[in-house]
Amino acid sequence: MAEERGHWGSRLGFILAAAGSAVGLGNLWKFPYLAWENDGGVFVLSYLAAVALFGLPIMIAEFMVGRRAQANPVVAFRKLGNRAWSGVGWLGVAAAAVILSYYTVIAGWSLKSFVQCLGWSFAGYDDGAPAEFGGFLSNGPLQILLTLLFSGLTAFIVYRGVGSGIERGNKIMMPALALILLYILVTALTLPAAGEGLAHLFVPRFSTWKPAMILDGLGQAFFSLSLGLGAMIAYGSYLKKDVSLPRAALSVTLLDTGVALVAGIIMFSIIHSIPGMKDQVSASSIGMLFVTLPKLFYTQMPGGALLGPLFFVLVAFAALTSTISLLEVLVSLLVDRQGMTRPRATLLSAGAVFAGSCLSALSLGAVSWLSSFSVFSGKPGVLSTLDHLAANWMLPLGGLFTTIFVGWFLKKDAARDELAGGRGWLFTLWLWLIRVVCPLGILALLLAIVMGKDFS
Ligand code: PHE
Repeated sequence: MAEERGHWGSRLGFILAAAGSAVGLGNLWKFPYLAWENDGGVFVLSYLAAVALFGLPIMIAEFMVGRRAQANPVVAFRKLGNRAWSGVGWLGVAAAAVILSYYTVIAGWSLKSFVQCLGWSFAGYDDGAPAEFGGFLSNGPLQILLTLLFSGLTAFIVYRGVGSGIERGNKIMMPALALILLYILVTALTLPAAGEGLAHLFVPRFSTWKPAMILDGLGQAFFSLSLGLGAMIAYGSYLKKDVSLPRAALSVTLLDTGVALVAGIIMFSIIHSIPGMKDQVSASSIGMLFVTLPKLFYTQMPGGALLGPLFFVLVAFAALTSTISLLEVLVSLLVDRQGMTRPRATLLSAGAVFAGSCLSALSLGAVSWLSSFSVFSGKPGVLSTLDHLAANWMLPLGGLFTTIFVGWFLKKDAARDELAGGRGWLFTLWLWLIRVVCPLGILALLLAIVMGKDFS
């Protein structure tokens, strides 16, 4: 079985893969949207604080658990702890399956939008399009087809293994993503009211501060950094000893935060520069990414015919590098625990998750009982229900247990050993964050959720 486990070929490969997992729809859509809803400045500060205080230390902890155990989350918690602790790993596996099942549906839209944009670039923009979005969502067969395509892409890369699949894919997609994002950033900054947008995003107006913003920031930090479900444990398990975990975690965190901020700058510049946009954004939904933005590219922005298709390549790459990491959590379980070969494990888990995805794909209007099915108030439909369940419950809970495990149960020598000797004030600071600050902070978040605050 040991020879089934791959390893990252290089430190850079690992960092790009982990950053690929982190950078996704959470950065491109959710962050700008939350920043807009929370009126910019102060929210951005809260988010940055959450990333620094909770995100970074927990990412180090997850890498540590993975590398120490050299195993998938379920096996890792069992090896380093005991049978009961492996429950945390199972919770993560369940969260990965849930998120993958609906995330793939949304990711699939990028394929359709890409093709549509190519058409517009060659044949001219057709303004009827925004109105068609509802019809697109409720087109069951098309939703399933797109989900199948995206699942296939994800499985194709995971199937090929850690080095020649995941690492190689990320090494191509992540630099491409960075280039496209920079190009769009430069274009957005030339818009007339870009300065206004920047000020809105970055200048804190403390009068607008609400305690809820901290909690919003914390929830978003978990989702965006792929924490709380073992994705970073799985990736950390393919690491060799010579990589510094705090430095790797810092690089990944900075890349993820950088992309979120750039996406925020792009959205805010556009919203402020284009008349009528503010009202449309208030109606807020993921439709902004797939409908409003392309419309803007073609009608208002210079070089739109190029921007349109490129933008959806960006969205697809960002989503794909995230779905790969989600699938890897499941595949590594079957390989490490059941001794399955990687190809079999990939086909089996991708197939099973795809079956679940169909429920989400059909819950956008195609099948009425799936679309109106409701557990959480204000979250009708399977897709929204699952998103709420994962983001509001499973990730924070997984994160809470992980910090308690690493802070209080993992042998301190193990932590020291993984952190290159673990002396000095940085180690002490990390330990206190993991032992006290993170668990209490997450508990506060969970209490707030129980009391009705929504984070999905
Ligand atoms: N971090 C990804 C994003 O921002 C989503 C994700 C969550 C991926 C958890 C893997 C694990 O879109």
